[in-house]
Amino acid sequence: MVLPIVEFRIDPWGAEVIREYDKLFKYFGIRPFKEVLNELAKITEPHLLMRRGIVFGHRDFEKVLEAVKKGERFAIVTGLMPSGKMHFGHKMLIDQIIFYQQKLGARIFLTIADAEAYAVRRLSRKELVDYAINEFVANYLALGLRTKDLTIYFQTNYRKEYYRLIQLFSRKVTMAEMTAAYGENIEPGKIIASLSQMADILHPQLEVFGGYKTVLVPVGADQDPHLRLTRDIADRFSAELGLERPASTYHRFITGLDGGKMSSSRPESYVALTDPPEEAGRKIMRSLTGGRATAEEQRRLGGRPEVCPVYEMHAYHLIQDDRELEKIYTDCKSGRMLCGECKLIAKERLVKFLEEHQSKLDRAREVAREIVEVPEF
Ligand code: TRP
Ligand code: SF4
Repeated sequence: MVLPIVEFRIDPWGAEVIREYDKLFKYFGIRPFKEVLNELAKITEPHLLMRRGIVFGHRDFEKVLEAVKKGERFAIVTGLMPSGKMHFGHKMLIDQIIFYQQKLGARIFLTIADAEAYAVRRLSRKELVDYAINEFVANYLALGLRTKDLTIYFQTNYRKEYYRLIQLFSRKVTMAEMTAAYGENIEPGKIIASLSQMADILHPQLEVFGGYKTVLVPVGADQDPHLRLTRDIADRFSAELGLERPASTYHRFITGLDGGKMSSSRPESYVALTDPPEEAGRKIMRSLTGGRATAEEQRRLGGRPEVCPVYEMHAYHLIQDDRELEKIYTDCKSGRMLCGECKLIAKERLVKFLEEHQSKLDRAREVAREIVEVPEF
């Protein structure tokens, strides 16, 4: 029998765009998030990324709903790779974290994956620390992440029990499993990154870290290989350490303004949260769209919001009101609105958002330095 994992593999460290989200349901047993949306809506209004299907999949999300309904504590684990500027592709994740923190009272564990970034992105330690504090953590705080019930740590600078987990985990995973999950070019740095990510996700269950048995990990779909292995490891350590499987959710990636993956390595593909507002506005005005070759053709055939990076900026970030978004969609589809006008709406919102956001950044950087212990080298 051919393992499905071999026919369709996701590389969490690759630069490819995932186009076939459906396959994640078919091959890997990720469930449609739609299934749990109504239950969540009974507790609180789902975040716009959830309402709009951008968070499209989950595993075991029911566990989280149950915990919340019973008034039990639950924790979120999330991580960031401090390997460049924080852009709007990264913002989607923290928006969800803030939602869970504020609406459902989640305890947050936030990993700065500097060991992973050092191994796979090959930046200097000094650069990693600088990006982590001044780009990521500071932007998170300025976006509204609260410091109460929040633990932020560097993977290279945490408590000893966390490292003990990494060492224990190494015994119960085989090289064949690593290759099946990550591909033939798996190497020691990636193996350590993978084991560290398992410890990131599972450590809150240990008594010394609070004994959180319900843990949710919201991630981009590229992270699922890590989640699958982590679930297996949890099973293998259930008797010895009492570990349980984590729940997870999966979101789509936002398309870059140049049509590829939104990526820190191509400045024209992203808007960073620290881009000067005017420059960000110019990037939007130069973006690829789902428009037609001529205005006449667009009036006649309508635009294609389904393949338009500007529409994604509206839907993922800039427009909160669902009816307003729907109007943009129908005005585009019907050809009533052309791309120039639509981009101007996006630009105006974006500039306003960034001005407000950036006015909070200096203070947020101070707080970031106060609350995070920085590794000495
Ligand atoms: N690998 C993740 C990324 O590339 C970062 C990460 C490290 C992470 N540890 C984690 C994400 C734990 C979620 C949970 O972005
Ligand atoms: Fe994209 Fe707006 Fe043009 Fe439609 S009108 S294709 S949503 S830029």
